[in-house]
Formats: sequence, structure tokens, C-alpha cells
Amino acid sequence: MPKSLCLILLLLLISVQMLLAENPVSKIDKMLAGMTLEQKIGQMTQLNITTLVQDRIAQNYGEVTNYVLDTAKIINYVKNWHVGSFLNGRAVSPKNWVYVTSTIQSINARYTDIPIIYGIDHVHGASYLKNGTIFPHNMNVGCSFDISHAYNAAVTTVAETAHLGHNWIFGPVLGIGKAKSWGRFYETYSEDPYVTSQIGVAVVKGLQNESASKPYRVAACAKHFLGYSDPKSGFDRSPAEIPDQILREFFLPPFKAAIDAGAKTVMLNSGEINGIPVHASYEILTTMLRDELGFQGIAVTDWLDIKALETMHFIAENEKEATFQAIMAGVDMSMVPLDTSFSIYVRELVEEGRIPMSRIDESVHRILKVKEDLGLFETYMPTTDYIDTINSPENIELALNAARESMVLIKNDHSTLPLADKKILLTGFTHDRKSPLCGGWTYRFAADSDRWFPEDMLTIKDAFEQEFGSKNILFQGTRTIKRAARKADVIVIATGEDHAYAETGGSIDDLSLDKGQLTLIKEALATQKPVVLVLTEGRPRLIPDVYDEVDAVLFAGLPGVYGAQAIAEIVSGAANPSGKMAFTYPRRSGHMVSYNHKRSEYSTIRQVSDDLKRHSIANFGHGLSYSSFTYSNLKMDSSITSGTASVRISVDITNTSSRPGKEAVLWFISDEVGSITRPIKELVAFDKKRIKPNETITFEFELIPERDLSFPNKLGENLLEDGSFLLQVGNLEKRFWLNRD
Ligand code: BGC
Repeated sequence: MPKSLCLILLLLLISVQMLLAENPVSKIDKMLAGMTLEQKIGQMTQLNITTLVQDRIAQNYGEVTNYVLDTAKIINYVKNWHVGSFLNGRAVSPKNWVYVTSTIQSINARYTDIPIIYGIDHVHGASYLKNGTIFPHNMNVGCSFDISHAYNAAVTTVAETAHLGHNWIFGPVLGIGKAKSWGRFYETYSEDPYVTSQIGVAVVKGLQNESASKPYRVAACAKHFLGYSDPKSGFDRSPAEIPDQILREFFLPPFKAAIDAGAKTVMLNSGEINGIPVHASYEILTTMLRDELGFQGIAVTDWLDIKALETMHFIAENEKEATFQAIMAGVDMSMVPLDTSFSIYVRELVEEGRIPMSRIDESVHRILKVKEDLGLFETYMPTTDYIDTINSPENIELALNAARESMVLIKNDHSTLPLADKKILLTGFTHDRKSPLCGGWTYRFAADSDRWFPEDMLTIKDAFEQEFGSKNILFQGTRTIKRAARKADVIVIATGEDHAYAETGGSIDDLSLDKGQLTLIKEALATQKPVVLVLTEGRPRLIPDVYDEVDAVLFAGLPGVYGAQAIAEIVSGAANPSGKMAFTYPRRSGHMVSYNHKRSEYSTIRQVSDDLKRHSIANFGHGLSYSSFTYSNLKMDSSITSGTASVRISVDITNTSSRPGKEAVLWFISDEVGSITRPIKELVAFDKKRIKPNETITFEFELIPERDLSFPNKLGENLLEDGSFLLQVGNLEKRFWLNRD
């Protein structure tokens, strides 16, 4: 061979190698290239655990306390249908979970190298694990105004469950809490997009924190994308009508933040927005989620939702058309979850040439990539090695502390609380119950019986006896309390919602507190003794007729398994309340707005606090403490900003009382004139710190105009407009100007 030809060949070889080095064929590409269509569809399929258990367990699923699998069923699904994901559960023991997940993984490993990803709803702690650590529900976590509680809950959850084979957690819930009567209100963190975003990011980081559960890793799932939390009817999975601009300004930011923080998966909204079911919306699932937000992970449907395009939304003639619509809109994985219809229809649609193979490959690539990122190709077998660390005293302390900081003292006339050295008459529908403290998604979907809860979990009654000593507590059932009250100094009524609910089971058409409970409160008021309400509830039940009459109101929400102790400590004064409302607690049913509503005939900036006061019993951001704090010295390093430079802002907060306490400082901004109408005010930052008596702490935040003063139009373009803005913190305010010339 002539020398020159040799040289050319050598150069060619080098450039091919360089090309390959730049675009190496990934392990996933190789794997994908070797997969059959059926295997690919299997990866896109998610089935419920009930498809794998013995018939007697499946038939009596409501009573499950221990799973027993049916090996033949597992073989059928993983061998014949190549199913790549399973989900769901009830609170069984850690050992039983390891038996379930390791059996599924090891049978699957006989037929494929691709491990199973197992999804589960540990939405407020290790909630589907017997004796797992349960944190306050999300609504409470929002009210703590301290994202470390959200982060701690997430880290604790993965530390307790990742080694059990739970490698995909269906949280954080990132809908903003708009519809107050909605049966899933308590799963939301706040009505405010900024609070929801901050917490969402903390949860994603906590769940996906690789050192929390080494060598096991977990994928977070931001749900439910997009616009799920404002159903017009107030009922679950019912239509929402949300203008594009509002969708972008309020509903989208938490998902954007979670995706930017690396959330590996999202779950879709079961409902429709503006006439289009989200599961069939190319605009939301591809244009927005992929092209605009740059999301590269898995988009999984919610429960039965491809079928729902036919059976609930009636936009598809049959399930095959529904499957076509969902896949072409951008769905990667179907939570089918009870049969193999999805596989059959996708196969037919691909063979008919209606769904291109490239669309299938795209989804399977995403799914395999998440499995690779989780290290599942190396470590997929669960272990019992770490089960002793579950529900450790340290984890319990984190949950208890979150509960203490997540309750809001709404009203405390004449310093009725704390109740030291008082004889207390304790009553109310929830004073000796467990499930109303925890709400849905605790041990089971909706554990409305206390038998599902740990025996040693305290009810409020138990906790009061422990905190105050039984001789200081009188108990009274919910019948007449007149006589019993004679011996008491004060009456504490634990009331609100007396059972747990989830999804449609939580649908109500009246947000008012039940009549029976109102009657009890009125009877208590008739005794002329001071009356304290402790509200244990998953949404703001209305108490207009008694609110002004009672002396104190503690919003306990759903504080979780350790919530009763936290309530007793706040009532006794052993703990100082520091929560603030992360949603607006309405007074009556006719007028329910969020704090960040638009201006209208009745509300100008000046009037807003008075107006909201008339229409709510607690505005967003309201919360009392046993300490008193004064705000002073609000400073901005410039009252005119050019839009490019950031502005440093600070305020001094002094604890003027003799009690140490924590204060959450909330920074709001009002855009005084905009080219489209602006919310009356918006939260742009918050921070919470402990302040000692007589101590002054300076709280600071850096205002970044592009981030804090801009807003999207309906096309998603970000507008940053010159003009005046009002900064508000506590009772202080300062006007400043954006002037970009
Ligand atoms: C809920 C989801 C949940 C899923 C799996 C659905 O009904 O909407 O939030 O993750 O079930 O349990």
C-alpha cells in the first residue's frame, strides 16, 4: 500500500474515533437497540401491586396488613409483558416490603437485565410503612415557613424506605392550594407559588439526596402537572378553567423550580384545563414540559388516566384511541394500572404505523436513563440491613419538631393561652382520635379507622394527660358539657374533621363545620368559661358563627403521628407557636380568595388588609406567638433600581417579650401599575429565626429585579416593567422604583 494511502486511512481512523468519543453510543442506546417492541412497551407500563398478590389478598385488599405474592402472576407480568414498573401499597412491616420488592426484582432478573422501578406515595414521611416516621401533612409543612422541615421529612423518608426497594416516591405535590373544599387541599403546601416552589425544591433535593440512603437512590415525582389544584366544582378530578397567564404566573413556577432542581419524574394532572384533558395535551406535555421547561425525565400518567380519556373525558371513542392521544401528546409511562390493555393497544398502534417507533424510543430512553441514574443496574436488590434505623428517636424528634412549628395560633384574646395551672375540660369530636391528626395517605389511602395507627400513638387526650397531669384534665364526651364545665377553668374543644379522606372520598359540598360540632362549641360558650378551639382538619372548615365568640383558636391542621404531643405542648406553653398561615382561612363560604388576588372594586392596596380581615379569619402570613416582635428600621440600599443591579433590603426585628420565640419574616411586593393587572401583593422571600428576649436580629434579603419584579404574559414572555413598587414586611412598607433608562 502506498505511504500516502496509509496516511489517509490512519487519519480517517483517527477522525472516526474522535467522532465516536464525542458521541459515544451510550449504554442505554445500546440497550434500546437490542430491545423488542414488546420489551419497550413493557418499560412504559406500570401496574399496581394488587396484580401481583394472591387472590385472597387482592379480594380483601382493604384489610391488607401483610402482602403474600403470587409468583405465577409476577412471572406472567415480567416475562410475558416485560412490565418495568409497579406501584402502591399499604403500611406493612419493613421485612414484608423487602420480601415484596426483592421477590419482584429477583423474578424479573431471570428474564431481563433491566430492573424494576417501584413507585409509592410516601407523601408526608414513610407513610406506607408500618411504624415509619410520619411527618405533618404538606399543608402544615407550608405553615411552618421553614423549608428545613420539608427537607428533613424527605431525607427521613428515603433513609427509612429506599433500602426496602422503594426507589420512586410520588412527591412533592406541587399544586397550589386554591380550591379550599377540594379533598386534596391538605396535600398542597400553600396557596402561594413561591412557598410551594421553595418547599418543592427542598423536597426534591431531600428525596434525591444520594447520601441519605446510600447506596440506594430515589427519584422524586413532581405532581400533578399542571393545574390540578383548582377544580371549579371543588371536587377531585373535575375540570379547571385557568387562563394561560394565570397558569403561567401561579401554577407553573413550582414545577419549573422542581425541574430545575433536578426532579427526575413528573406525574400528570388527571383533570382537564380549559377543555383539554392534560393527558391528551401536546401543548402541556410536550411544548411546555419538554420544549419550554427542558424536562428530560419520565412523565407518568396518574391512575387509570389513559382509560379516562375514553371513560371520563369522552374525547376518545375507545381505549385504543385514548392510548394514541396520550402517547402522541407526550406520555412516557402509563399507570395502567390493573390490566395489560395499554401494552396491547400501543403494540397495535405502532404496528399500524400510527405511533412512530421514534416516539416509543424517546420514552423508553427516558425511563432507562432514570433507572441508570438511580444506579439500579448495579444495585437493585433491597435489604433488611437498615431496618433498625426506622423510626429512630432522632427521626421522631424531627417529625415532632416539624409538628410544633407547623401549627398556627390564629386567635388568642386576653392571652387565654398558654394554659398553665388551669383545670381543663377537654372535649370535641377529635379529642380522643388518631386518624384526624394525620389525614389521608397515612398507612393507607384513607385510614379512617384508628385501628390502622400505632398503638402507642397519642391522641390529644393522652397527650394532655401526659402534659398537664391527669388530675388537671376533665374529659367529657360530646354530649352536654354544662355540668362538667363547672369544675373547669377553661374548655378546650378539639374539633374540625373527624375522619381521614383522600381524593373523591374527600368531596364535600359544604365547607362549614358539622352541625353537631358547632352545637358543642355553642354549648361550651354558654357556660361562660373561656373556650379554646383546636382545629384538626385537612382544609379550612368554616366557623363564622362562633369565631368571634371563642377566646382562642389554634389551627393544628394535620400535624401527624406526633401531633397530639405538639398540640399539648403549645396549649401548655412548653412550646411557643411559630407557624403562620400559608393559605387564607376564609370566614364564610361566599367569598374565597387567595391573599394574592387581583385588585377590584373593593380592594386597593391600602384597603387590602382590612378587606381580607372582613372576609377571612386568618390572612395568609398571619400567626401569633407567645412572644412579641416589633419590626423597625426597614432599609433599602437604593430606592431606584435599574433592573440589572440587585438591591439589598433589611429589617430589624426585636423580641420585646420575656419569651424566646421564632419569627417567620415574610417579604411582600406590590407592583403598583402593570400592563396587565397585578396581584395585590406577592411574597418574594421568607426566612425564620429564633430571637431571644430583648434581642434584635436583622433579617435581610436581596431583591433581584429580573426574578422578583417580573411576571409572565399569557405567551410565557417575561415582562419587567418600569414603575413603582411597594415593599411590605410586617407593619412596615417602602416604595421604590424600577427605572431602566
Ligand atoms: C393519585 C396520585 C397517586 C397515585 C398512586 C392517584 O390516584 O392521584 O397522587 O400518586 O394514585 O397511588
